Amino acid sequence: MNPVILHGTIVHTPTKEVFDCHPDSYLISEDCKVTGIFQELPEKYKNVPVLDYGNSLILPGLCDMHVHAPQFVYRGLGIDLQLMEWLDRYAFPTEARFADLSYARIYYEAFADALAKNGTTRAVIFGTLHAPATELLMEILEKKKIGAYVGKINMDTLSPDYLCETPKQSLADTRKWIEDTKDRFHLVKPAVTPRFIPTCSTSVLEGLGKLAQEFDLPVHSHISEDLGEMSIVRDRYPQYDNDGDVYDHFGLLTSHTVMAHFIYPTRHEMELIKERGVTIAHCPQSNGNVAAGIPPIRQMLDLGVKVGLGSDIAGGYSVSIFRAMSEAVYLSKLQWLRSEKKDSFLSVPESFYLGTKGGGQFFGKVGSFETGYELDAIVVDDRSLCVPADRLSTEERVERVIHLADDRNIISRFVAGEQA
Ligand code: GUN
Ligand code: FE
Repeated sequence: MNPVILHGTIVHTPTKEVFDCHPDSYLISEDCKVTGIFQELPEKYKNVPVLDYGNSLILPGLCDMHVHAPQFVYRGLGIDLQLMEWLDRYAFPTEARFADLSYARIYYEAFADALAKNGTTRAVIFGTLHAPATELLMEILEKKKIGAYVGKINMDTLSPDYLCETPKQSLADTRKWIEDTKDRFHLVKPAVTPRFIPTCSTSVLEGLGKLAQEFDLPVHSHISEDLGEMSIVRDRYPQYDNDGDVYDHFGLLTSHTVMAHFIYPTRHEMELIKERGVTIAHCPQSNGNVAAGIPPIRQMLDLGVKVGLGSDIAGGYSVSIFRAMSEAVYLSKLQWLRSEKKDSFLSVPESFYLGTKGGGQFFGKVGSFETGYELDAIVVDDRSLCVPADRLSTEERVERVIHLADDRNIISRFVAGEQA
């Protein structure tokens, strides 16, 4: 493939402490991989056309590590409910409609467009329990150039009659869907996706652990999100005092597992997550909306747990990962206060790291412009933010882009080395 050369103000976070800024520079990729950032265009590229974005910001693509595609339909509703009631009132009735493929097509197209418009280049996505609609979602994401792990979800107990599988059907449908989709797409792959422990019987969790191992697939679910959810799990598995041990018992915690939330980890559970190499998807907007709680992100980072950010549509109402970065900082300040200033709050570069490289590592070498990383990039023209860019440092420009989170400024997107 021809080299791709982007010119602009290039910013990324190879480490989470500081922004690495390269004003008036060239970002070059060959064979879809970054070869470097250069102040002068190297001689050997002199005849390659340059995509010149002037003084616009060139940033790594954003990674949404936990999002429910069908819930895009009702984002912004039910924000005054707690998780379990919110699932009954909104999530389950809406998801049931995805049995209808023509309905699914309308909303999955809109969902994928919203992700692209907001600069998300990679995502880990819940579909519904319906395999055909989930396969359609995968087709749409591939067509619109969004890199993704997508799940046909599993729910065979404690679910409404109209949205519930038998254990046998749940596992058989999942197996067939994996076989049908695992090699079908370039950017999109299946992930084993138990909805959460309350809606999955023991035999389904056991079967899913085996499927993940047999097909070497990633796993995606929710962990220790809400006190109501956790009390159901404690009743069902009295031998364990945390969700992590239950998932681990079924072989569902691996270095290619992403678990959303982790608001109430026990110390042992946090160490287990770290030990297994699981990635936590931190979804600050959702945690507030469904009144789930405030996760101890600083403690996770200090222990070396891998953390990325998620929108958790429709627990969160915004698909913007810039907003998730902003709200991660905000929520960490509440945690700082709650911990009597022991858990220091997140810095802006830290939150940017979580939304790019922190999540990106789940997809391979993604989320940074270091040499050898896949070229995932977005171009942000921040002139509309109305302070002359030359009066702000590059770091300040990025800070405003994050907090003001205006998708209209995202003018271009590159995914896995190609303009999308
Ligand atoms: N736990 C189980 N299902 C869901 C869901 O749809 N959203 C959230 N936030 N948590 C869940
Ligand atoms: Fe969720």
